[in-house]
Amino acid sequence: MSGVKERIDDLRRRKAQAEAGGGQKRIAAQHARGKMTARERIEQLLDEDSFVEVDGLVEHRCRDFDMDRNVIPGDGVVCGHGTIGGRTVYCFAQDFTVYGGSLGEMHGLKICKILDMALKTGAPVIGLNDSGGARIQEGVASLGSYAEIFFRNVRASGVIPQISVIMGPCAGGAVYSPAITDFVVMVDQTAHMFITGPEVIKTVTNEEVTFEDLGGAATHATRSGVTHFTAEDDDDALELVRELIDMLPLNNLEKPPTKPTTDPHDRDCEALDDLIPNDSTTPYDIVNAIEATIDDGAFLEVQADFAGNIVVGFGRLGGHTIGIVANQPKVLAGCLDIDASVKAARFVRFCDAFNIPLLTFVDVPGFLPGASQEWGGIIRHGAKLLYAYAEATVPKLTVITRKAYGGAYDVMSSKHIRGDYNIAWPTAQLAVMGAEGAVQIIHRRRIGASGDPEGERKRLIDDYQETFANPYRAASLGYLDDVIQPRETRTRLIKALGALLEKEEIRPARKHGNIPL
Ligand code: HXC
Repeated sequence: MSGVKERIDDLRRRKAQAEAGGGQKRIAAQHARGKMTARERIEQLLDEDSFVEVDGLVEHRCRDFDMDRNVIPGDGVVCGHGTIGGRTVYCFAQDFTVYGGSLGEMHGLKICKILDMALKTGAPVIGLNDSGGARIQEGVASLGSYAEIFFRNVRASGVIPQISVIMGPCAGGAVYSPAITDFVVMVDQTAHMFITGPEVIKTVTNEEVTFEDLGGAATHATRSGVTHFTAEDDDDALELVRELIDMLPLNNLEKPPTKPTTDPHDRDCEALDDLIPNDSTTPYDIVNAIEATIDDGAFLEVQADFAGNIVVGFGRLGGHTIGIVANQPKVLAGCLDIDASVKAARFVRFCDAFNIPLLTFVDVPGFLPGASQEWGGIIRHGAKLLYAYAEATVPKLTVITRKAYGGAYDVMSSKHIRGDYNIAWPTAQLAVMGAEGAVQIIHRRRIGASGDPEGERKRLIDDYQETFANPYRAASLGYLDDVIQPRETRTRLIKALGALLEKEEIRPARKHGNIPL
């Protein structure tokens, strides 16, 4: 080979070999499982013709197990950058047709290069995972590359958004890269995540469990809370990532993008005047309040099937991306428990890291009572949410719709932990606890001594409700900035957010805080 033409032909041949991955047979097997190939996924994820591949010619260096006779350029992972909605993102997609997408030394270092480039340029990273885990033939070199990835995920945390899409197997320590990233999307039925698989579990604990029950999307969406979004198929997962990226800033030095809306800023939310039932123990759906308030009712809920007693997700208010946290009276009466506290705390910290203002809807009767909650550590888990809200310096807007009782009142973005604009509806009740519990504690003797205990109890409850079960005591102390008619919610919040967009709050310098983990 000497002439220019021969050299160009040689380049073409090498590129074609890289693009063919593990070959037609394995590609057909991938399709037969309803999965796209790595390259098809990237094409689908990014804006048309925007992908620029890097390291397509990287090869593994393994000489054991006859590996030197099977070298596929690219080494089982397609890496590069492109755009989503015209904004730069970095991405990698593991190619299951090459050694089962397993991660060897060079495969791992390719991912590291992407993470380094993304961090240097301040662009999000999206990882499309489909891998048999550590490449067995490469031994500890493979483990080393994994750890290099984990280290970079941690270094980039809070600097650039990191999104992991699980589109096939993801086992062993490999799950820790997705776990460190900000959002995990799992494809239903085809994605599985676990530390140890069903066979090992059977040997060690004698438990029998299927792949799907152990680590399928449904399990991680409802039981473990590991996944944030469940997608029907590859297509759906990639569309979801595009939607999410559209909401987020590219890095922690940017504000989130704004999207002009035709939804009037001064739109009255008439339906909200009728949302709260007359009986304060009757549930209602807080998502109705969220959707009525935000632009076009477009709510992207995160972890929708986990800890339903708290609702978190993204929306826009007057065109600005906001993070929404809301107690859900429909589930466990909206009590805070361990799972709800952890779910919301992580979401609040993400929003704070990426300059996304927080809107909190409060209707919380308190922390969930129970021995299992206490023994499970509700004290330290509940403290996470308190900590997250208190450390958050983004604009914090709070709307109390009904109950704001006890410690949970303090936790839920109260004025005291630096809520910036705290308002309540006339149906709000800010108190240490509900009237019945309070009367039982402070008037037990009086009720006992009364000739008409039930009548006396009722009178005292009415009296307590009159005095405390309203927002006016808190408003008189300045703990609320205003009490508003529910229909005014959107207008008021948009105005308040507009005034707070340039908020700056400096906290004392420190290496890092010590959130109760
Ligand atoms: C090398 C691997 C591999 C691996 C799969 N392959 N996993 N090659 N290292 N870890 C290869 C297979 O040899 C096969 O090659 C091709 O990928 C497809 O695999 P199949 O088994 O035919 O596919 P399938 O039936 O779909 O099963 C997929 C699978 C299974 C569930 C992922 O392959 C499997 O259990 N693999 C081992 C998983 C594992 O134990 N990994 C280590 C986990 S521990 P051919 O040439 O036949 O197509 C770990 C530690 C990480 O990852 C630690 C980080 C700190």
